[in-house]
Amino acid sequence: MTRPEPSTSEGMTSGKSRFDDIYGRPDPRAYFRRLAPLRYEIPHHAQPVFRKAAAERCALDDGIPGTPAVLDLCSSYGITAALLNHDVTLAEMYERYTSPACEAMSTARLAAWDKEFYAERRRPDAVPVFGLDVAAPAVRYALEVGLLDAAFTDNLEQGPPGPRLGDALATVGLITLTGGGSYVTARTFAALLCRTRRPIWANAFVLRTVSYARIGQTLAAYGLRTTVDASRTYPQRRFTDGRERRYAVAAARSAGYDPAGREEAGRFHCLHYVSRPARPARPAQGAGTGERA
Ligand SMILES: C[S@@+](CC[C@H](N)C(=O)[O-])C[C@H]1O[C@@H](n2cnc3c(N)ncnc32)[C@H](O)[C@@H]1O
Repeated sequence: MTRPEPSTSEGMTSGKSRFDDIYGRPDPRAYFRRLAPLRYEIPHHAQPVFRKAAAERCALDDGIPGTPAVLDLCSSYGITAALLNHDVTLAEMYERYTSPACEAMSTARLAAWDKEFYAERRRPDAVPVFGLDVAAPAVRYALEVGLLDAAFTDNLEQGPPGPRLGDALATVGLITLTGGGSYVTARTFAALLCRTRRPIWANAFVLRTVSYARIGQTLAAYGLRTTVDASRTYPQRRFTDGRERRYAVAAARSAGYDPAGREEAGRFHCLHYVSRPARPARPAQGAGTGERA
């Protein structure tokens, strides 16, 4: 059963179905089972984009000690981390977590199985990934199976980062977001940016029924310029029902987008927002630029 979200302030949605009951389970099976018929696919579209962004962001810090970490906002069970750092596809994850073999397992057995599975598929270019999500069981699972290097449950909509997240943010170079644009607002981004120390890039896939304007303004206040190619959209998932479809078509239209062939065809669509420092960082000393101190 799904229910509509209540009307909320900027950055949040009204009329979109909620899935709260699958976010805080001890393992990802219910998440994949529920979302499979809705063809939730945005992490698949983000996979090559995030891999490229992570590689480019790492290259920027050539000569600076330590690989810049990725902070996956609304990380849930570590799906972005799995797709970023492992030779695995979202289709394979759906198949795995909805399989009869998996259904009979205890969470402990599934975690042991997953640990081995992801370790075997770890990519040589894997980067550190921190997960931030208010759903403690989900991030705990991702941490246990080795998808996340660190996990945080601070709710930055309600207050500043705690000391552990605050310290971790000093090593973050890239913020990623899929499926969370309806839950976090500019407040969360401001709280993160307050504590970052390295040059920050943000890559966010956000429904075009949700405004990113306030987040973009907040990022600008921290020196980041946000760009989006509004002609390119990425399907997120099918609508749960006609009510949700009517809401999305109307919301896309009132945001100035043409829903024909997109929301009208039965699925939510995302835009991909890229934020980078408006002024490029000075090259690291000794990074081979020929620049003298
Ligand atoms: C649709 S899921 C997206 C999960 C994953 N990124 C993906 O695309 O599959 C949304 C997630 O946002 C999380 N969330 C909701 N409010 C949040 C908040 N204030 N801060 C961090 N995460 C939040 C939920 O717990 C849930 O795991």
